[in-house]
Amino acid sequence: MLELRNIVVRFDGLVAVNDVSLDVKAGEIHALIGPNGAGKSTIINVVTGLYRPSEGDCFFQNESISNRPTHLIARSGLTRTFQNTELFADFSVIENVMVGLDHEYHYGIVSRLLNLPRWRRNEKAARYEAFELLKRLKIEKFAEQKAGTLPFGLRRRVEIVRALATRPKLLLLDEPAAGLRHHEIIELNQILVELRDELGLAILLVDHVMKVVMAISNRVTVLNFGRHVATGSVREIRSNPDVIAAYLGGAGGHA
Ligand SMILES: Nc1ncnc2c1ncn2[C@@H]1O[C@H](COP(=O)(O)OP(=O)(O)OP(=O)(O)O)[C@@H](O)[C@H]1O
Ligand SMILES: [Mg+2]
Repeated sequence: MLELRNIVVRFDGLVAVNDVSLDVKAGEIHALIGPNGAGKSTIINVVTGLYRPSEGDCFFQNESISNRPTHLIARSGLTRTFQNTELFADFSVIENVMVGLDHEYHYGIVSRLLNLPRWRRNEKAARYEAFELLKRLKIEKFAEQKAGTLPFGLRRRVEIVRALATRPKLLLLDEPAAGLRHHEIIELNQILVELRDELGLAILLVDHVMKVVMAISNRVTVLNFGRHVATGSVREIRSNPDVIAAYLGGAGGHA
């Protein structure tokens, strides 16, 4: 579904991603892990078009997306969440989700201001679909609450719902478990497994929280200092000496 070939990303003197190749298959949860600064978020930024690779190419469903603008990449079925939550604090939860649906329903700002019938009709349909998505992630009871007033764990979940509203085939999640409590992590695992198994979504999951990565990933890729260290099953990664040396064995680290 997604294929990165020999991606290099340079910032001034720094090589943030150094010749990384990886692929995400349809219907898999593929984790991308590694120490701080390893280049994980940079890879998500490249895939979603926020950064251009200095070298290499990125393919989504066999088409190169390396030079496509971000909105066209998103429209082709590839959506992300950010490492720091980016909700509209003064909008209600359901309105935040409707932002993700805006493209589907074209209830643009002009028809909204003029209160055209088309806008009203489309807004109703969007609201319905947004509510169904909130139900899927079991947060429909917060639909009318302002997003900014929600506790952190719920805001993160709204972000995932908003990403789903764009009807992605591939979801890229940048540290969805950061700062979550134990029970929220268990729920997140259930949600992500459901999205994979029921909706058939592919997921590229960046996280330091091993209770998520090791519990639900089909495959794991490890980066260190911008370089690819290993790709394999959870079992292979856990016993890989290079991975243990670079990341998992570190005393007191996130892992
Ligand atoms: N826009 C940028 N300009 C300059 N340097 C950048 C930029 N974005 C990232 N970097 C650098 O690239 C390297 C990789 O950063 P990146 O954010 O991808 O790491 P990460 O693996 O996501 O780390 P973390 O686990 O801390 O989120 C770091 O050294 C970072 O400082
Ligand atoms: Mg990061």
